[in-house]
Amino acid sequence: MTMIHCEGLVKIFKTEDIEVVALQGLNLTVEQGEMMAIIGNSGSGKSTLLNILGGLDRPSAGQVSVGGWDLLKIQDDQLVEYKRNTVGFVWQNNARNLLPYLTALENVEMPMLLSGKLDRDYAKQLLEWVGLKHRMHNKLHQLSGGEQQRVAIAISLSNRPKMLLADEPTGSVDTATSDQIMRIFRDVNKELGITIVIVTHDLELAGKVDRVVAIRDGLTSTEFIKRNPNLDQAEGESGFGQQGGLQEVHEAFVVVDRVGRLQVPKEYLEAVGIGGRASMEFDGDKIVITAPKPLEGENK
Ligand SMILES: Nc1ncnc2c1ncn2[C@@H]1O[C@H](COP(=O)(O)OP(=O)(O)OP(=O)(O)O)[C@@H](O)[C@H]1O
Ligand SMILES: [Mg+2]
Repeated sequence: MTMIHCEGLVKIFKTEDIEVVALQGLNLTVEQGEMMAIIGNSGSGKSTLLNILGGLDRPSAGQVSVGGWDLLKIQDDQLVEYKRNTVGFVWQNNARNLLPYLTALENVEMPMLLSGKLDRDYAKQLLEWVGLKHRMHNKLHQLSGGEQQRVAIAISLSNRPKMLLADEPTGSVDTATSDQIMRIFRDVNKELGITIVIVTHDLELAGKVDRVVAIRDGLTSTEFIKRNPNLDQAEGESGFGQQGGLQEVHEAFVVVDRVGRLQVPKEYLEAVGIGGRASMEFDGDKIVITAPKPLEGENK
């Protein structure tokens, strides 16, 4: 079953005199129960995508549906319900969803209170899950940054969302805390079946998910997928997939859209000298794309 489906997704930010095309026809499909990462250079549109998926921002054009909701057509009142019941959000900077003078437990209960479904036992269970059982009655400002981040994860799960969106969730914590956070994500993904999308710069972290999608080239955000073929095997050994660079663990894929278009990485095209045209041959089990032979009379 599909959780997220984006096709030709476009987001244009208009300010006084300039237009920024943050997403230009992005395609992405995420199955229910997947735990995946999105990587890409600064400014490539990762947060823009996450904000749209989380219902915090509106798409400009294209298709985007999450858990059966069409986010292009959704009404404002439905959007409130969507945000409350379908998505959980974790940011690098927790300030947005934490209240410093309430306890960890009160913080986790807050969104439950707001939606009229207080469940103290579940709030406690969530804090236990993130390893903060012994700190639940401490005020937020008495906790370390890493502990606060784990409270933020518990909060993001408090309304039992179907999907968790995390924008650089380990961006400001040390490696040990980062590992701990990834372990929590994996547990939550396995135990609750929640779909998890993590935006990250950290390639090592990207090696700990099922699949990595890279948004490339800033404006022409196109999908480029790397699936981790060693994950199941490696998981048996270390419980967490392999350490090391993305290239070592992931096989590269390009996405082919419904009408057969794909994007060939610029480096490949340059390496074989393909400019505006290419010639393509089908040889039974391969498709070979090469630089075109010069036409008769054309300069080489
Ligand atoms: N509210 C906004 N108004 C105008 N332009 C915006 C707005 N938000 C984002 N942009 C622009 O859209 C593009 C994508 O930004 P986005 O924040 O999605 O990038 P990102 O991939 O998350 O980058 P980073 O890794 O630095 O967080 C950038 O060019 C950015 O300047
Ligand atoms: Mg960002």
